[in-house]
Amino acid sequence: MNPSLKRLDKEPKRLIMIGGKGGVGKTTCAAAIALHFSLQGKKTLIISSDPTPSLSDIFEMEIGDQEKPIKNTKDLYGIEISSDVVLKKWKDRFGPEIYEVLSSFTSLDYDFVDYIGGAPGIEEEYMLNYILELVEGGQYDLVVWDTAPAGHTLRLLHLPQLFLKHLEAATKFYMNLYSYFEKLKESVKLRKGKRSLLEIISGWEDLAEKVVNFIRDPQKSDFIIVTIPEALGVRQTERIIKDFDEYELRVNHLIVNYIIQQADCEFHKIRKEMQQHYIQILKNQYSHRIGLIEVPLMPQEIKGVERINKISEILFKEV
Ligand SMILES: Nc1ncnc2c1ncn2[C@@H]1O[C@H](COP(=O)(O)OP(=O)(O)OP(=O)(O)O)[C@@H](O)[C@H]1O
Ligand SMILES: [Mg+2]
Repeated sequence: MNPSLKRLDKEPKRLIMIGGKGGVGKTTCAAAIALHFSLQGKKTLIISSDPTPSLSDIFEMEIGDQEKPIKNTKDLYGIEISSDVVLKKWKDRFGPEIYEVLSSFTSLDYDFVDYIGGAPGIEEEYMLNYILELVEGGQYDLVVWDTAPAGHTLRLLHLPQLFLKHLEAATKFYMNLYSYFEKLKESVKLRKGKRSLLEIISGWEDLAEKVVNFIRDPQKSDFIIVTIPEALGVRQTERIIKDFDEYELRVNHLIVNYIIQQADCEFHKIRKEMQQHYIQILKNQYSHRIGLIEVPLMPQEIKGVERINKISEILFKEV
């Protein structure tokens, strides 16, 4: 397999997701990948769903939760979305529906919608759905998603299960309410409520399925994992890839970041040796099916379009 992202030039995707543990260079790589495609004239949106606004830092401008053109670039846009914003969008979309159904047979506080929205899985589910809307909205040729650190990515993969479990709990709750009120012989109104509730829930299930199908489709989506050549990085990578395998999601590229190139002192010699040891482990384990791309540790932090572009050139070098 090609140890470069060059292949992606010939196999255009609609969504590229970047995952990995905290601090390994996900945002840097996501920015470099997005910049690369925008320079080819593809209208590209880079999304960060990290709780800390990292894109703003790397592109040296305020981005925020509205799509914005990135300064000093062409065809590149950015957006930083927080879970608060996503949850609000979820509530705007489903809140009135839920409330309408429930209030048709009981007097409930609107806070109840918050209770449902706060269930595990909802946020990730809706984040993905929101991103899918951006992907399918036709405004961009490509969306590059800088996901939050690994834990989050993994949770996201457990999403269909979490989500369905949540639905189950919610359904049970509704059904209990239903039977309670049925006992009070308010069955005419109730039956109406129950039916539309099931419709809503099946709508949510369709949504979850649509999202999962999209990210499973190798023609449309691609996953890239970023890691570091250390025991922790190797272990986390193993865990992430195992999880991806379980969910029939393919990781095609593994970026190994912070690699020491020249060691001209004892300190760096030792570090380099350690890194090479772990790079070899990663290669033995994955190079038959995942392209391993090595990115050197730069003397400076990666900030601003010029330095990001240097990383793009490394990631997309001709091999
Ligand atoms: N190859 C590199 N050489 C030098 N500095 C790098 C390199 N890659 C990333 N950095 C720097 O390391 C820091 C962390 O990178 P980045 O923010 O991309 O990590 P992250 O995985 O997105 O972190 P988080 O999990 O917190 O979102 C940044 O200051 C970035 O400039
Ligand atoms: Mg980041």
